[in-house]
Amino acid sequence: MEYRTLGRSDLRVSVIGLGTLAIGGAYGPVGEGQALATIRRALDLGVNFIDTSDNYGLGRAEEIVGKAIQSRRDQVVLATKGGTPWDERGRITNDCRAGTIIEAVEASLRRLRTDYIDLYQIHLPDPETPFEETALALEQLRKAGKIRYVGLSNFWTEELEAWLSVGEIVSNQMPYNFLHRDIEGKILPLCWERKIGVIAYTPLLMGLFAGKLTPDSQFGQGDHRAAYPQFQGEAFRQSLRLIERLRPLAEEFGLTLAQLVLRWVISRPGVTCAIPGAKHPEQVEDNVRAGEKSFAEEELERIDGILEAASVEVSRGMPMKVVEVCSGPRGKVGLLAMGIKVGVPDWVEAGVVVQMDIVTGQIAETDGG
Ligand SMILES: NC(=O)c1ccc[n+]([C@@H]2O[C@H](COP(=O)([O-])OP(=O)(O)OC[C@H]3O[C@@H](n4cnc5c(N)ncnc54)[C@H](OP(=O)(O)O)[C@@H]3O)[C@@H](O)[C@H]2O)c1
Repeated sequence: MEYRTLGRSDLRVSVIGLGTLAIGGAYGPVGEGQALATIRRALDLGVNFIDTSDNYGLGRAEEIVGKAIQSRRDQVVLATKGGTPWDERGRITNDCRAGTIIEAVEASLRRLRTDYIDLYQIHLPDPETPFEETALALEQLRKAGKIRYVGLSNFWTEELEAWLSVGEIVSNQMPYNFLHRDIEGKILPLCWERKIGVIAYTPLLMGLFAGKLTPDSQFGQGDHRAAYPQFQGEAFRQSLRLIERLRPLAEEFGLTLAQLVLRWVISRPGVTCAIPGAKHPEQVEDNVRAGEKSFAEEELERIDGILEAASVEVSRGMPMKVVEVCSGPRGKVGLLAMGIKVGVPDWVEAGVVVQMDIVTGQIAETDGG
């Protein structure tokens, strides 16, 4: 396993980490025994970077991670996220006010059975709270030794630049895989220039690029991929055809498809590491091999050739109702029916249905405008 330094920190992270969204139940239920075995297998195989969030399974993923690493805390670079509290009905919102963040860190420490978090990440921007307020709270927590470093997640260029004028960070956790390559435009160059680590999430596009799905695949109860547009209709069929074109190359390289995409992700300039999720120890065993080395330039070019030649519809617009609008420190804010707040263009009013890009969180300018 290769290890890299995360941004300007002294954290050395395995290029293949372990994401725990699936362990929290996002893709269907995972029993505790199986979840513990998955995390422990990852540690046995050289994965030292575990990413979780307080909201994965509404605290459950953190509790399981805490149990799994309890006797091996010193072997783990432990990353969690906060700023997304939930109400008694389990409805999540984004709230990065100082008091919320301080409470969230205390609760994460309890669930994770530790007295420090190596990397504490703001899960997504809160358009209603000034970044200064959140950054000050995090600095207070850092000085108290409760968190070692601060990271962000889902901060696109404008928000990232705005944060950098008020706070220090060592990383930004962003979506990156064969079809979601938005960060290549501005985020990767900006993070490279500012020495900010980039942690690639959903590197397998929620399992799509692990190569085991067929046109007839069905998702079980509680698996939120059933509603995800890339897993439906023509977009799904085209993705599966792309996978079939990649399969012979993976075989030629002596890799599984999951290893091909993961090694491609960690070989891209500016990416520090990938954090594939896993539900079973066997998936971890498969994924860690991707971290043995990076692809050479000509290997990357051959993969890119196939990706460029394929015409795959990238489907990620989702209709969302705006229930309330107000003004925030960086512009107009819309509260979506699902509970999350986003920055919205001026034309958006309460009651309209907008198309939200679920990868970037941006509202399409054209709909209803
Ligand atoms: N910051 C954010 O907003 C954000 C958002 C999303 C995710 N994340 C982080 O990124 C991590 C990774 O994303 P993700 O878990 O959503 O998606 P992912 O890593 O792209 O896909 C994970 C899923 O793929 C399948 N899989 C994994 N390895 C496999 C293998 N070798 N062979 C076959 N199938 C395999 C498993 O599901 P099945 O077996 O059911 O197919 C697994 O749950 C998360 O766990 C989380 O830590 C962060």
